[in-house]
Amino acid sequence: MSTKYPIIISQTKFMHRDTLHYPFEERGLQFGDGVYEVIRIYHGAYYLLDEHINRLFRSAAAVKITLPFTKAEITDLLHALLLKNDVKTDAKVYLQATRGSAPREHTFPSNVTANFYAYVTEQPRNKANLENGVQTITKRDVRWENCYIKSLNLLPNVLAKQEAKEHGCYEAILYRDGLVTECSSSNVYLVKDGKIYTHPATRQILHGCVRIRVEQFAKKLGIPFSETGFSLDDIATADELFLSSSTSEIMPIIAVDDKPIGNGKPGSITKQLQAEYEQDAAITPEHTTI
Ligand SMILES: Cc1ncc(COP(=O)(O)O)c(C=O)c1O
Repeated sequence: MSTKYPIIISQTKFMHRDTLHYPFEERGLQFGDGVYEVIRIYHGAYYLLDEHINRLFRSAAAVKITLPFTKAEITDLLHALLLKNDVKTDAKVYLQATRGSAPREHTFPSNVTANFYAYVTEQPRNKANLENGVQTITKRDVRWENCYIKSLNLLPNVLAKQEAKEHGCYEAILYRDGLVTECSSSNVYLVKDGKIYTHPATRQILHGCVRIRVEQFAKKLGIPFSETGFSLDDIATADELFLSSSTSEIMPIIAVDDKPIGNGKPGSITKQLQAEYEQDAAITPEHTTI
């Protein structure tokens, strides 16, 4: 397959992406028995790399997978990956670690090494969505109770996002017992009377790397940031709504289930946070966009 960035990491070695093959009895393929990360790259440089590596190690430890490298080693490997591919554009790295390859048996195989790979793809900024905002639907959160682990088991997320797409929407906002948890692949926030509300960083949501920054930006801007969460009912009277993730950045939400949020345009607090993000990620006007 032709791609702009053909060199990948497999275990701790570099190779061409076409040469990596796994046996069909592979724990990630058969059980979703693994963890992953998506790391954003702007102009050939990682954004929030340490935060992603720390979360990778937390996720792996939570599911008892021993990674085949230290944090320092994977940091060096990921930097070398960008050099080997001569990455200069806006892009992202996808990486995953599974429990390994072994005959299919639910219990952990003994003497098996984790399978790891990482590869780069282009990821232009979605300027139109960032400027105009996106529409969303709401869906019951039917995921398991350990959503803080970035595991490969994404079927509920995939189904929710597909349903959003079929409604002409960008994301599905998930709720449990009436309380909004997060979106299918992003964290979500509500703004009311100058204050930001979001679900606390419990087991029920993924602790987003951009979410860490959103809290810091709010602090810097003097905007109260409350982790008390918000309900589906609160959405009806919200001033602003936005979501965050490494690929979506800080994205205004202008409608939920076909009902406009506020005046149906990106709100001023969301825009201030977007400006902080662009500064923090050293984004300049010549960055690639779609
Ligand atoms: C379910 C879910 N929540 C939140 C996020 C945001 O995480 P991050 O800001 O680290 O990209 C993601 C990212 O993919 C996600 O899949």
